[in-house]
Amino acid sequence: MPNTKAYAALTAKGPLVPYRITRQPPGPGEIEIEILYCGICHSDLHSIQDDWESTLFPCVPGHEIIGRIGRLGAGVDRFREGEIVGVGCIIGSCGVCTSCEESLEQYCDQGFLGTFNSPLNETAHTLGGFSERIVVPAKYALRVHHSRNQLAGAAPLLCAGITVYSPLRLWGAGPGKKVGIVGLGGLGHLAVKFASAMGAHVVLFSSSEAKLSDALDLGAHEACLSTDKKAMSRYSGALDIVLNTVSASHNLDTYLRLLKRDGTQILVGAPAEPHASPKVFNLLFRRRRIAGSLIGSIRETQDMLEFSAAHQITADIELISISDLNAAFERLDRNDVRYRFVIDMESLRQSDSG
Ligand SMILES: NC(=O)c1ccc[n+]([C@@H]2O[C@H](COP(=O)([O-])OP(=O)(O)OC[C@H]3O[C@@H](n4cnc5c(N)ncnc54)[C@H](OP(=O)(O)O)[C@@H]3O)[C@@H](O)[C@H]2O)c1
Ligand SMILES: [Zn+2]
Ligand SMILES: [Zn+2]
Repeated sequence: MPNTKAYAALTAKGPLVPYRITRQPPGPGEIEIEILYCGICHSDLHSIQDDWESTLFPCVPGHEIIGRIGRLGAGVDRFREGEIVGVGCIIGSCGVCTSCEESLEQYCDQGFLGTFNSPLNETAHTLGGFSERIVVPAKYALRVHHSRNQLAGAAPLLCAGITVYSPLRLWGAGPGKKVGIVGLGGLGHLAVKFASAMGAHVVLFSSSEAKLSDALDLGAHEACLSTDKKAMSRYSGALDIVLNTVSASHNLDTYLRLLKRDGTQILVGAPAEPHASPKVFNLLFRRRRIAGSLIGSIRETQDMLEFSAAHQITADIELISISDLNAAFERLDRNDVRYRFVIDMESLRQSDSG
């Protein structure tokens, strides 16, 4: 029986509407989480628009979840009832492939089980955090050490945060490294905070002139308008790493040119349309690389949460009520958010819709 209020997109490009779903009681090894806050990631927007042509409808998005544990399933001793936990993009993986054995379940050979939009059987798929509660295996829940008044801002760490933290760590962002961050959105503004907390020299590249001063306030050492060719030329061959978070296809050569010898441009943005192929000579000269990176593992996410609690890092958010959900998606689509929408899920619980 449908026992849980949620919001779903029923068709591609349709609005999100009240929708009732069924959450089973927690089985062995599972926990039930009463969702307090859920962030809105650009991947939720790509999904409801079916940009990647892989969305299963009805789609209940949401994968930046902070909540309070309700019931515990049999055998769960890692957590207590009432504890605050986070859930990100991953709620399952095969557990036996090389990537799973190396605690890199985001690269599971079988594909990880996503918090939303992953098939469960012929007719059902996972339904995400735009809902009152969710039931997940305890081993995919994260401990959150942020204070009560930081919890809404901590929700976006569960996807945006880990997606930038993982590659920044892997590529060695830290003292003595010059790191370029491209795009000041949900991912980009957290990348600025993490890279500067790691001790790197951070240069933020934005296509929005109005965001440049915010970038400096967020911790960037320099900020540059990416459409200003003269300003961009100052960074030619100057950067060790470029982390590109842009959600739309664009010219990757703009940022390849900024890399030193052996520098890497890491793509985390996932636009619907392919980027134009970069000029090969921008790779050959200086032996530059282009790489990709997908979210982060459960272990890395826990590390990221410890690091962000220690450095007092949370997202800069606009807290919205569930009734503002479609307006928030329209604003996200227009690049009009500072810098992440987070839904106060109490507003869903109290709504008489659904
Ligand atoms: N790899 C992964 O595992 C992973 C995980 C999560 C999200 N993602 C993807 O990462 C991307 C960013 O997500 P997000 O939530 O950070 O989105 P977001 O908040 O909308 O930020 C995207 C930023 O990209 C820039 N941008 C947008 N359109 C542009 C255009 N036409 N030309 C140049 N710049 C443009 C804007 O920055 P400026 O205004 O500063 O230019 C915008 O703030 C999305 O594609 C999302 O699906 C990937
Ligand atoms: Zn996401
Ligand atoms: Zn696996």
